[in-house]
This record gives sequence, structure tokens and C-alpha cells, in this order.
Amino acid sequence: MSNDLTKLRQVWETLGAEDPLWAVVSHPDKRGGRWNLQEFLATGEADVARARALLAGCPDGPGRFPGVLDFGCGVGRLSHAWKPHADHVTGVDISEPMIRQAQRIAAGRDGFRFIVNTAPDLALLPSESFDLCYSHICLQHMPWPLARGYLLEFARLCRPGGWVVFQLCSRPQPGTGAASLRQRLVDALPFGLAKAYRKWRHGSSVVFEVFFTPADEVLATLRSAGLVPVHQEPDDAGGPGTEGFIYLARKPAVRA
Ligand SMILES: C[S@@+](CC[C@H](N)C(=O)[O-])C[C@H]1O[C@@H](n2cnc3c(N)ncnc32)[C@H](O)[C@@H]1O
Repeated sequence: MSNDLTKLRQVWETLGAEDPLWAVVSHPDKRGGRWNLQEFLATGEADVARARALLAGCPDGPGRFPGVLDFGCGVGRLSHAWKPHADHVTGVDISEPMIRQAQRIAAGRDGFRFIVNTAPDLALLPSESFDLCYSHICLQHMPWPLARGYLLEFARLCRPGGWVVFQLCSRPQPGTGAASLRQRLVDALPFGLAKAYRKWRHGSSVVFEVFFTPADEVLATLRSAGLVPVHQEPDDAGGPGTEGFIYLARKPAVRA
């Protein structure tokens, strides 16, 4: 496994074991297991409603999907929001504690499947098995070469005529270099002080990173994978100090 993937897995296994709901939606007053599960799941409905509204605005944009892939599903917050609009939702995540929690939350409900995948690809899933490949606030947390690899996999997993919808950060908001400088300085602290500082400041010894990829590069990747970019619009899901986009692309119905 590459160093990047090993590091990602360690970070998200730790966060998933410590406080999984807060790691996904990090409201300061919800730290320490304070999220009410129903309120937490309800936060996913706005994200999915937005994606559905954007799809509805595209030519032939469907309102319902037989099979949805929720990549980087965490505890399944968005998988649950997609389910009323899908027959089956498959959630995939690198973190075993996140997936265990997702399975607990969905226990007894039909049409969900949650899988751990620690590979840099999605070889565990068959080609052309989804009508929508979706990913929200996940790809932004990994270096671009890894994210790019998963986007290429989305193109393979999508049925002809299917859709790919995801969000990525494109650049730091101008004038916000201080936060990343602080992170680099903390990384350089000796004697385990970086861990101690993070525990004090963030409540966890690990922090997730945010990476930036210019939209041109993302669009070129989609095209190189045989997808047709259909729509993109600004998105602030990456949080304060970031700029980004939500991207919609389609796999041609008939192969050339
Ligand atoms: C901020 S959480 C978002 C979870 C979910 N998308 C949501 O919005 O509710 C990011 C998730 O991405 C997952 N993740 C990070 N890198 C991943 C990878 N390479 N493959 C699969 N999941 C990954 C993490 O484990 C974590 O659950």
C-alpha cells in the first residue's frame, strides 16, 4: 500500500474509532459523541437534495437510480439520503470503524451494503454496476493522484448512460495561506509534540488534510476516462478557506 494510502487509512481509522459522527460533520458543539443520530442523518439530506436538483437541471437527468455508489461513505450519512431515490446503495470506505458504524445504523433496513476498501482502486466492484457514482467531502482529503485513480474507477463502474457526481476543492481561498503554514509548522514539531498539540487544539491526535486540484485538471481527467462533463458549479463543502466545485459527468449511453 502506498504511504499516502497508509496515512489516510490511519487517520480515518483513528477518527472513526474516536468520534465517527463528529469526524464527518465537525460542528464544535457536537464533539465527544454529542450528535443526535437523526439530526446527523438529516444533514445529509441537503447535500443529496442539491445533487438531485443539479441532476434534474441536466438533459435526461434522472430523479431515481437503480444502483448508487457512495464512495467515502463514512457512517452512511449520504447513503441514507440517497436511498429513497435508489433501489440499492453501496457505501465504500477506507475506515473499518466507519463501516462498522454504517452497518449498525443501517441494520434491519433493506437495500444497503457497506464495504471496507483499502486499495487504491475499486477492483472489488464489477464494471458497469452503478447508475450513479457519487462522492462528497471524501476525494478532497487525498492527494490528487489517488483521487484521480478513483475517478477513473468511477468511469469503469458506471453503466453506459450513468452519472458521476462528486465534489473537490480547487484552491485555497486567496489570503488563507496561514492555516496550511501552521499545519506544516506543527508537522515539524519534535518529540511527539505535534500529537499533543493536535489533541489539545482539535480533540484528536490526528487531523485530516485538504488537497486542491484545479478544475481544468479534473475536467481533463473525466474526458480522458471517456466521461462527458455536463455541469460544474462552485461549492464550499471543503470548509472555510477553500474554494471548490461540484462536478456532474455522464458516461455516454452508446460506446463510440
Ligand atoms: C469527511 S468524511 C465524509 C463521509 C461521507 N461522505 C459524508 O459526507 O457523510 C470522509 C470519509 O472519506 C473516507 N475516505 C478517505 N479516504 C478514502 C479512500 N481512499 N477510500 C475510501 N474512503 C476514504 C474516510 O474514511 C471518511 O469516512
